[in-house]
Amino acid sequence: MELLYEGKAKKVYATDIKNVLRIEYKNSATAFNGVKKDVIEGKGILNNLFSSYFFDLLRKEGIESHFLQKISDTEQLVTQVTIIPLEVIVRNVAAGTLAKRIGVEEGHIMKFPVIELCYKRDDLGDPMLNDDHIIALDIATFDELKELKQKALRINEVLIAYFKNFNLDLIDFKIEFGKTADGEILLADEVSPDTCRLWDATTKQKFDKDVFRRDIAPLRETYQALADKLGIS
Ligand code: TMP
Ligand code: ASP
Repeated sequence: MELLYEGKAKKVYATDIKNVLRIEYKNSATAFNGVKKDVIEGKGILNNLFSSYFFDLLRKEGIESHFLQKISDTEQLVTQVTIIPLEVIVRNVAAGTLAKRIGVEEGHIMKFPVIELCYKRDDLGDPMLNDDHIIALDIATFDELKELKQKALRINEVLIAYFKNFNLDLIDFKIEFGKTADGEILLADEVSPDTCRLWDATTKQKFDKDVFRRDIAPLRETYQALADKLGIS
């Protein structure tokens, strides 16, 4: 079937079912807008596993997504959506670019979850936008933006509570949303350790892509250890 789109971590194919696409999780790992990259055997399998599991978990909590079914080790079927070109980031603890940008220490606990919205434009380095930019430039309407933020905060609550069971702190994460043919807004893209930060609450050990970004530990072994910890297989 026709390849519709190839991103850094996934390929998207057409299917013969109306409004249904097939996503293949790749073995490539990238960071810093593709400046650092590697091929990591087994990464696609692990991220398909995580993402399918988290989409299921979120659906059980009433959060709908594009996810339909895991159909192989590296593939899933999803509802076709038009991606809203925003990276919706939720931060519970300062880390990464926030810590760097404003000179606050990594690990500083935020008084409340902070949402950042970045324009999905690799060629521009995904610049941060404010609400006015988004509405004035027709990237999303006022009501859509409100919905995205509400959904992001609800997802944050569900995931924080889930990871707490395994003594893991959800530091931050990035999600994307898409619009269906009927105009419904669904969580899309992926939910995996590629797109969040997870620290052991006691030791602060990292179980996310920072191990690759910062050359701390091998990525596949780290993701496998996370899958084992969560009992996902
Ligand atoms: P940051 O601190 O690098 O801005 O990242 C914030 C969160 O967003 C972190 O959990 C990693 C995730 N993220 C992505 O999933 N994709 C990206 O392209 C970037 C920059 C961050
Ligand atoms: N996803 C981005 C990249 O592939 C950035 C990151 O996750 O650090 O370069």
